Amino acid sequence: MLRCQYSLFSVFVLFALTNAFDITRMEPIADKNIHTGNRMLYEREINANISHATAAEEDAADGVLDVNEIPVRFDDAQLWRIYNISEHMQNNMPLAEMLESKFGGVIWKENSKFLDISINKENLKAARSYLTEHNIDKEVINTNIQEMIDAAELEGIKASQAEAGSRTKKQTSSGIDWKDYHDLETIYAFMREIRQKFPKICRLYSIGKSAEGRDLKVLRISENPREYKKIWIDGGIHAREWISPATVTFILYQLMIKWEEQPDYIKQRTWYIMPVMNPDGYVYSRKVNRMWRKNRARIPGSKCIGVDLNRNFNIGWKGRGSSTDPCSDIYRGASAGSELETKAVVNFLLRRKHNLEAYLTFHSYGQAIVHPWAYKAAKVKDSAALQRVGQTAVQRILSETKSVYKSGVTYQLLSVAGGGSDDWTRAACDVKYVYTVELRDTGKYGFQLPPSQILGTGKEGLIVVEAVAQAITL
Ligand code: ARG
Ligand code: ZN
Repeated sequence: MLRCQYSLFSVFVLFALTNAFDITRMEPIADKNIHTGNRMLYEREINANISHATAAEEDAADGVLDVNEIPVRFDDAQLWRIYNISEHMQNNMPLAEMLESKFGGVIWKENSKFLDISINKENLKAARSYLTEHNIDKEVINTNIQEMIDAAELEGIKASQAEAGSRTKKQTSSGIDWKDYHDLETIYAFMREIRQKFPKICRLYSIGKSAEGRDLKVLRISENPREYKKIWIDGGIHAREWISPATVTFILYQLMIKWEEQPDYIKQRTWYIMPVMNPDGYVYSRKVNRMWRKNRARIPGSKCIGVDLNRNFNIGWKGRGSSTDPCSDIYRGASAGSELETKAVVNFLLRRKHNLEAYLTFHSYGQAIVHPWAYKAAKVKDSAALQRVGQTAVQRILSETKSVYKSGVTYQLLSVAGGGSDDWTRAACDVKYVYTVELRDTGKYGFQLPPSQILGTGKEGLIVVEAVAQAITL
């Protein structure tokens, strides 16, 4: 288990000092707010107790913080892994949902073999006794999730600082890199930057607005949009899976830095790239609750917020693997396609389904490349072809980065769950190569994947993209 040797205070001081004295460090302002994100807010929380008015005024002035959005902390929260979950149905309620509703557990991952769930300090005792009573074994993966969050954050700060010191000029004017996770503004600035550098072949769309009014951005890259076969890539459906937008932007960067030299199976395609499908959730996960998964839609009649966008698509929507409870992390929404983010993507894709050959969606964690179906226990007709391409990617990843990925059918490798974007695209847009990619890791860090692993993980994402692009015949 990872232990953080730095106190909150020293982290703050380190950051404040290095930043204050380094005026050469050109980085977008937005990113600075985020870097200190939770910490700055935490400091303010203390201030707010002393003088409410002052803190509130400050917040209003820089627009960073709503006083109600005090960061959630996970001190002494534990991450547990529980095997054989299917044996433990409780009055028809799956164990995961049970622990979620009774003990405020946060489901990190559920697959055919195990459940990873985090339990806050206050509920540890009760949850432990519950498991003991029911003879359910657990493995404790981590005993302080806040430390893990802080360690990842500190590592990112240090990596950026190291670069600032070494005088290497930033390659991108947006300030993006793959040494750390970046905020939404930086990602959107990067998309604009690419468009500006390749005005002839890029088009930047705002395909709609999120629940909180943010732009939903898609970049198209194509030398011949009328004729070339189309590949869609998205990330960030789930807010806390930060490695996903990081990987999608990495893929975009890698495609573009050597665009002229790319092989035909890259250059003679139309690419649609949406790094952040759930911008509200992403922002919220960076500012307030690191474990946030859903979007940020208000739910009439409920105190809880947010719909799981990957349970909201109109395929097997009422089926297994989702919840009707707005407080659940896998809440499917009031109706299929109810969410603005879902609608925007659905409408955009439906109008472009001609020649749409691949749909790739990046999630974390688990290291798997899976293809439909998820909503029912069946394989698509051409599952063999999809499996072959998936396996090619798995092999290439193994030889290039040494990471072990699995490939397979979603319902088998993960679990049956309706309402997914992958199944919907396959069914409604008749796309052949549909894959959900679960990026690193296999559970050691989970969503708090250390920034030093972004590059390696990004390469793995790119390998999947290249294998799929290659598989599509020109
Ligand atoms: N971890 C992803 C999720 O739970 C996996 C998605 C797989 N596809 C699906 N339609 N369930 O959303
Ligand atoms: Zn996900």
